[in-house]
Amino acid sequence: MKTDIYYFSGSGNSLYIAQNLSKKMEHSKIISIPHIINKENNIKGEIIGIVCPIYFHNMPHIVRDFIKKIKEAKYLFMVYAGAGELGKGLKATKKLFVAQNIKLSSLFNIPMPDNSTRYGEIPEEKQKEMFNNADKKIEDIVKIVNLKEEHFDSNNTSLFKTYIHPGILCKFLYGNMKTMDKDFFTDENCKGCSICQKVCPVNNITMKDNKPVWNKNNRCQVCCACHDWCPKESIQHSSTKAGIKRYHNPNIAIKDIINSSANE
Ligand SMILES: Cc1cc2nc3c(=O)[nH]c(=O)nc-3n(C[C@H](O)[C@H](O)[C@H](O)COP(=O)(O)O)c2cc1C
Ligand code: SF4
Ligand code: SF4
Repeated sequence: MKTDIYYFSGSGNSLYIAQNLSKKMEHSKIISIPHIINKENNIKGEIIGIVCPIYFHNMPHIVRDFIKKIKEAKYLFMVYAGAGELGKGLKATKKLFVAQNIKLSSLFNIPMPDNSTRYGEIPEEKQKEMFNNADKKIEDIVKIVNLKEEHFDSNNTSLFKTYIHPGILCKFLYGNMKTMDKDFFTDENCKGCSICQKVCPVNNITMKDNKPVWNKNNRCQVCCACHDWCPKESIQHSSTKAGIKRYHNPNIAIKDIINSSANE
């Protein structure tokens, strides 16, 4: 059976997982969601996989829009590459598929390094440990998908975190995500290389006088690709913690992130 693995990725974690799943699954290919989101309305497939990060205890808005376009799949699986805190994410995901009348057969969570600066820097050793664990989990996922088994990872977030703090805050932030690009800016280190523009998956950055301008047109996914791939670490956000090294997946080449963007 053919497997189509659709992915959305800002700092490369989800792309890492999608690539490695595909290497281990026969007759499979990976497809960037930004490439097809405005081109296809009837997504059909034999086995369909979706790999994406989790944002504020929920899925990226572009992935939500993508799922609404799925019309048919014999087996559908989803993998979250969150930083370990899914909150209501699993419940929200199941609900969306029920509303779509599409059967979600399995749902997995692979904890990966956090690409926001919230929790500080992730030491290299810790990153390697996470990638090793991710590789093992990928093996397990391949077995489950090959056998077409049903499997649902359990929610790993405490009830307090899910519903009180940061749960309530996450709900608010998730609802306001698309306007968060108003809080990005560059500092004096910007060298005008336009990498930020090229890595933006949704074409939300324009270069003006050799400096990025965020378009503020409700398109931003807050994926942090611009923030995390800037070679000068010059992009700041009102939520960026000062002095923290930016994270992007060290196993992913920047060209693969650029090739995943809607510009391509
Ligand atoms: C705006 C934003 C919100 C996030 N919210 C969560 C969250 O609620 N729970 C979590 O586990 N990780 C959260 N993360 C971390 C990402 O899901 C995680 O680092 C993911 O692996 C990034 O995937 P990518 O490299 O494919 O973009 C958040 C990251 C960003 C940028
Ligand atoms: S990637 Fe960084 S240095 Fe390059 S143009 Fe964008 S902000 Fe400036
Ligand atoms: S502007 Fe930055 S954060 Fe927003 S979608 Fe583009 S790359 Fe992601």
